[in-house]
This record gives sequence, structure tokens and C-alpha cells, in this order.
Amino acid sequence: MFGKFDKNALMLFTGALTFFLIGGLMTTVLPWITEKSWGNPVAGLKEYSDQELRGRAIYIREGCWYCHTQQVRTLESDVKRYGWRGVDAPISLPGEFTRDKPHLFGTRRIGPDLARVGGKYDKSWHRTHFNNPRDLVPGSVMPPFPWIVTSNGGKDLDDLVAYVQSLGRGRDWRPNHDYEQ
Ligand code: HEC
Repeated sequence: MFGKFDKNALMLFTGALTFFLIGGLMTTVLPWITEKSWGNPVAGLKEYSDQELRGRAIYIREGCWYCHTQQVRTLESDVKRYGWRGVDAPISLPGEFTRDKPHLFGTRRIGPDLARVGGKYDKSWHRTHFNNPRDLVPGSVMPPFPWIVTSNGGKDLDDLVAYVQSLGRGRDWRPNHDYEQ
């Protein structure tokens, strides 16, 4: 029966298109119909402040998302790696991203995932790290961003750190909250 698809170009094209459409519908339309929680923010999620939004714009401008993802996947390795002091990092939920337009999930992990980085370090750590990552992490391939530390009289640094510290806060999972700023 399938021999016909080999010989008839029109049938081959129509068959391929049909399977493509089925795949497309199952991955884009079906989830919206079956998963009702999509689009609802998780309980602890706050809207970004103006400062955090400015920081987010710097994150986009500097291309941080070329190297960093923002999604803890449903894998043991993700949950353990991005956890903190023995507490597993919660898996990312759709409701954590409702304020992100456009989203910054990212695609490549040249550096670690940042979805749960808020509160992990204090501001002086970030200042040193942006200025020259190798001062803190020998051999780091993250490029230095010294202009972020100095530009706008230090305001850019404050904004970017505020944004980075906001990541993952919606879930309030980090023991003792650690560094707020
Ligand atoms: C060329 C790829 C690359 C780019 C671009 C990049 N990073 Fe990184 N980043 C890394 C790598 C690799 C590491 C791990 C080594 C280290 O900590 O320096 C890292 C580490 C980090 C960490 C520490 C994460 C942790 O859990 O320890 C933060 C925070 C961070 N980057 C933020 C940023 C921000 C903000 C930008 C944009 C201004 C940025 N990165 C741009 C590659 C990159």
C-alpha cells in the first residue's frame, strides 16, 4: 500500500503534509485545550518593577540569553544541579513565565541555567563577576562585561542585578532567601 507514496509525488507531498499538521496540532493546540493552568501566574509571582524591567532590557541587549537558559527541565540532573544547600530546585512551571514577553527560555547552555539564580549570590559577587568572571571562576568562558559595572554611574549594574535577583522568586524555594539585592 505504501508503495504508492514512493511513486506518486502528489501522494507523497499530501502524506507528509498530513503528518506534519498532526504533529503541529498535537504540540501547539492540544496542550492549550487540555492544560487549563496555562496562562495563570503561579501564586508568588510579582510583576517586574521598573528597575527589573530595565535590567531585563540590559540582559537582552548584552545577549546573556545566547549562553544562558531560564528553564529548569523535568530532569533529575537539572533539579539537583540548580538546587541549593541540599534543596532541589523546583521544575519550571508555565505560570512562572506569564510576565515574560518575549520569554527568555534560551536554547543553549554555554553557561548554567539562570531560572533559579535569584538570591544565590550577593551584589558584590555579581559586580566582580560581570567585571571579569575569571576573578571568581578560574577558566570561565563567560566574557567580561566591564561597561555594565561602570556605565550610567553604576545604575546599569543595579538594574541588571535587580533583574537577576528576581529570577525564580515566584516559587520562593531558596532556604533563608539569601541575598535579596
Ligand atoms: C559566551 C557565553 C556567556 C555569555 C554571553 C554570558 N555568560 Fe554568564 N556564564 C557563562 C559561563 C560559562 C558561566 C559559568 C562560569 C562562571 O560562573 O563564570 C556563567 C555564569 C554566570 C552566572 C553565575 C551562575 C551560577 O549559578 O553560578 C551568572 C549570574 C551569569 N553568568 C550571568 C550572565 C549575564 C547577566 C550575562 C549577560 C550580561 C551573561 N551571563 C553572559 C557564559 C556566558
